[in-house]
Amino acid sequence: MSHESFPTENPAVVTCGLPYANGDLHIGHLRTYVGGDVYARALRKLGQRTAFVSGSDMHGTPVAINADQEGVTPEEFALDWHETYERTFPRFNVEFDNYGHTHDETNAELTRSIVRTLVENGHVYEKEIQVAYDPENDQYLPDRYVEGTCPYCGETARGDECDEGCGRHLEPGEIEDPVSIVTGDPAEYRTRTHKFFRVSEFQEYLSAFIDRLEGTSNARNQPREWIEGELRDWCITRDMDWGIDYPDGESDLVLYVWVDAPIEYISSTKQYSERVGTDAFDWEEAWREQPGTPPGANGEIVHVIGRDIIQHHTVFWPAMLEGAGYTEPRAVMASGFITLNGKGFSTSRNRAVWADEYLDEGFHPDLLRYYLATNGGFQQDVDFSWDRFRERTNNELVGTVGNFLYRSMLFAQRNYGGTPDADLSAEVRDRIEDAMEAFTDAVNDYSVREAGNAAVRLAQFGNEYIQRNEPWKLTDDDPEAAAQVIRDCVQIAKAVAILFEPVAPDKCERLWADLNEDGSVHDVTLDAALEAPAADFGEPTELFETIPEERVGELNEKLQERIAETEAASESEAAGDTAEVVDELEPLADERVSFDEFEELDIRVGEILDAEGVEGADKLAKLTVDVGLEERQIVAGIKQLHDLDSLPGKRVVVLVNLETAELFGVESDGMVLAAGEEADLLTTHGDARPGEKIR
Ligand code: 2FM
Ligand code: ZN
Repeated sequence: MSHESFPTENPAVVTCGLPYANGDLHIGHLRTYVGGDVYARALRKLGQRTAFVSGSDMHGTPVAINADQEGVTPEEFALDWHETYERTFPRFNVEFDNYGHTHDETNAELTRSIVRTLVENGHVYEKEIQVAYDPENDQYLPDRYVEGTCPYCGETARGDECDEGCGRHLEPGEIEDPVSIVTGDPAEYRTRTHKFFRVSEFQEYLSAFIDRLEGTSNARNQPREWIEGELRDWCITRDMDWGIDYPDGESDLVLYVWVDAPIEYISSTKQYSERVGTDAFDWEEAWREQPGTPPGANGEIVHVIGRDIIQHHTVFWPAMLEGAGYTEPRAVMASGFITLNGKGFSTSRNRAVWADEYLDEGFHPDLLRYYLATNGGFQQDVDFSWDRFRERTNNELVGTVGNFLYRSMLFAQRNYGGTPDADLSAEVRDRIEDAMEAFTDAVNDYSVREAGNAAVRLAQFGNEYIQRNEPWKLTDDDPEAAAQVIRDCVQIAKAVAILFEPVAPDKCERLWADLNEDGSVHDVTLDAALEAPAADFGEPTELFETIPEERVGELNEKLQERIAETEAASESEAAGDTAEVVDELEPLADERVSFDEFEELDIRVGEILDAEGVEGADKLAKLTVDVGLEERQIVAGIKQLHDLDSLPGKRVVVLVNLETAELFGVESDGMVLAAGEEADLLTTHGDARPGEKIR
């Protein structure tokens, strides 16, 4: 069944992917949370009953490994970060109705109950498998404790995900050439008994589910390949101490972090219900599938996530929900990634604009919210730069929205003490109705950007309208006409406050107060945009301030200095211990190859003609390379290491007779040679032409 348009009678739950409680947040992380917050607020504007929830992801190896490095317990470590996140999100006006964490009793209890139900319904079985083990440290190596080669695409991968290559989830025992990240030694495989969830039984269900699923097209299309291919069962236990114990002492293992993490979506909603009362919001009405009802008849569950975790939310999670009798997601909105000046964010290199740092620079959170919500479609990768931030703030927020509001409200206040006594014109009523419709369509299309743009376009119309009608020329000659124009403008300002609230909640609350409207703009629904504005109001404030050019220069300089300092520090650390550096270099190969064998490699000079990121992959770029006799499409793992726009025209060295491969669904015909972890691209130093053979 296709879903009814929003607003519906059902309760909606908007969730944001749980951040691992393991490190500082930068503005790239905020994209999903701002997107989720804008979407939840926009649903409420349509009158949809909505809970907005998330929480910190406390378990798993991403937390345990970092806690080990700090020498503290995972619990202490994760709780500390959890508290930081709890404080940080509201500072960006990301106002969850409940922000819990996966280690609290509500989640532990619900997780155990869901696993028990899956067991009772026959969806869980035991199997002996090979798991990686570090003999030196006498330790099993689940997930991120082991690295090796992805069996599907050959790229370096972590134990449970091919994060540098094809993006697949990997099951324990699958990774090839496993190496322990604890000792750096090769790991062994040992036999252990683990619990498996029979995802394979849900193939038919998932095929129908994916046809019903709404949201961004990446989340609706990408999973088809997994669902329609071989659906493998999913190992739900891990050999580690940190996590939720497998229920009822049936195993001495803990549950895989990806079991209890999404269950926090339900637990967090439950905590919200417990706080506000089930009359205000009943978590069970939203999450419990009422027996005999068709899918989509219960709660409207919308998951807002980063695109790297689509598989978890469209395969494992819906199968778990179906197997345990909970409501399936109505929609999954998967955001693209964010780069900084064209290159990936890197926490280890301090190549980031940190969340706190942004605020400490004195910028209002709503400016960043506007940038993140509207600078590109939700599923596209977007770039952040201080230059672009300034440009968009100055042109769109100051030049369009702020300018319209200030000039029209100031004119209204000075000449009429508020809203002039006149009826709303048909033209302006129609235009506001169009904006309301565009906003409603955007919500139903899961387009955060278009929801934000509806208000900006209306303000743009307001500027044209006031300019075209020149009320300042009419006040003496035709006071009625002047009053009419200004009455219209105040109505537009009121509509902008309501339509723009999801993106700029704090600024719009200010505007609401300036318009002398009752209550809070957060609580009004879209239809209030056409209700008569308050008759009197005071002098308006200027909502947005211009960012001077020098400020951007300073910010760029600061960022560059910081990156250089971090790099210099790590270089001098490395230089301080030459033995360590030598250790880090791979040993020279013992085995010799014959000249004939070398001759079999066809290596040529190439020239990069075009470079673009591979949609859906964090690290892969698609290059078009002229190799003299033809053009080749080559996929290389350099997306975050090079500014792709600067690559066209560069000479490179290409292995042209490598077997073709498919990476993230894109064919790669050859290999561009590069040195080291940073993928330093090899080049020529004379004027060898593309196609010249390298010997
Ligand atoms: O990938 C991650 O960062 C996970 N912590 C996301 C969990 S989302 C959900 F399913 F809980
Ligand atoms: Zn892979």
